[in-house]
Amino acid sequence: MKITLTKPFILKLFLISLFLSLPFLFLHLFSPQQRNHSQTITTTTTITTKDLKIRPGYTSYDTYIQRQLNKTLNPKLRKIWTTRDWNRKIPVFARFFEELQKKKLLEKTSKALCIGARVGQEVEALRRVGVIDSIGMDLVPYPPLVVKGDFHNQPFDNNTFDFEFSNVFDHALYPQRFVSEIERTLKVNGVCVLHVALSRRADKYSANDLYSVEPLVELFQNSDLVHVRGVDGFGLDTEVAFRKKQTHTPHRF
Ligand SMILES: *[C@@H]1O[C@H](CO)[C@@H](O)[C@H](O)[C@H]1NC(C)=O
Ligand SMILES: *[C@@H]1O[C@H](CO)[C@@H](O)[C@H](O)[C@H]1NC(C)=O
Repeated sequence: MKITLTKPFILKLFLISLFLSLPFLFLHLFSPQQRNHSQTITTTTTITTKDLKIRPGYTSYDTYIQRQLNKTLNPKLRKIWTTRDWNRKIPVFARFFEELQKKKLLEKTSKALCIGARVGQEVEALRRVGVIDSIGMDLVPYPPLVVKGDFHNQPFDNNTFDFEFSNVFDHALYPQRFVSEIERTLKVNGVCVLHVALSRRADKYSANDLYSVEPLVELFQNSDLVHVRGVDGFGLDTEVAFRKKQTHTPHRF
């Protein structure tokens, strides 16, 4: 009884509020300002070119992060990374870094970052070759070697590092963002070294597939290509090194 009495009134209220909210709805739909911070990442352009293909199937940035976390948090993998792999991989990483020191791309005084460092094997290797001021970054922290951070949105200021290393480029859902964050946080003349797989597909957690160095050269808009060489890096076959250029800074003053 009560319901039938109030029904027209509720309907009227509903129609009025719908009418009143229309301008806001339109404003929301067409405003370029509608995207908040976390969404800026989901709206980053995904470039798929002949030699760089983004894997389909990630419905949202959260799904992507959840999947990446699934690998990073896998207890069996973490156990292997900190035991068997620890002793097997660190000497190999240390040799890579020594070669980069010989080529003057890495100094003992360099402030260095390892991107996607998991449990910090690369950081430990850097420290063993004398690069003391080095840190790793991953979605899950592993103190004291690895701090928490998303490579699509690095938690560091502009012009922080002299050297950045990563062997997880294939995990980037937004390669352009991955690279621009490196270029942002590197100092001018800072060096970025990537180990990538060109001739074989990486793992099931990869978000992209890379078939040549070309897309990387295009992505590193503010850097010069220093070298490309073959390496034997645990399934990764190619080392690509870039050096950040001096860029004009129009809003400096
Ligand atoms: C995470 O891993 C578990 C089992 O290892 C699986 O059941 C689940 O579907 C995975 N989640 C994602 C988002 O991949
Ligand atoms: C940091 O660098 C980015 C991209 O190069 C630039 O857009 C931004 O304004 C810089 N931020 C500061 C605080 O200088």
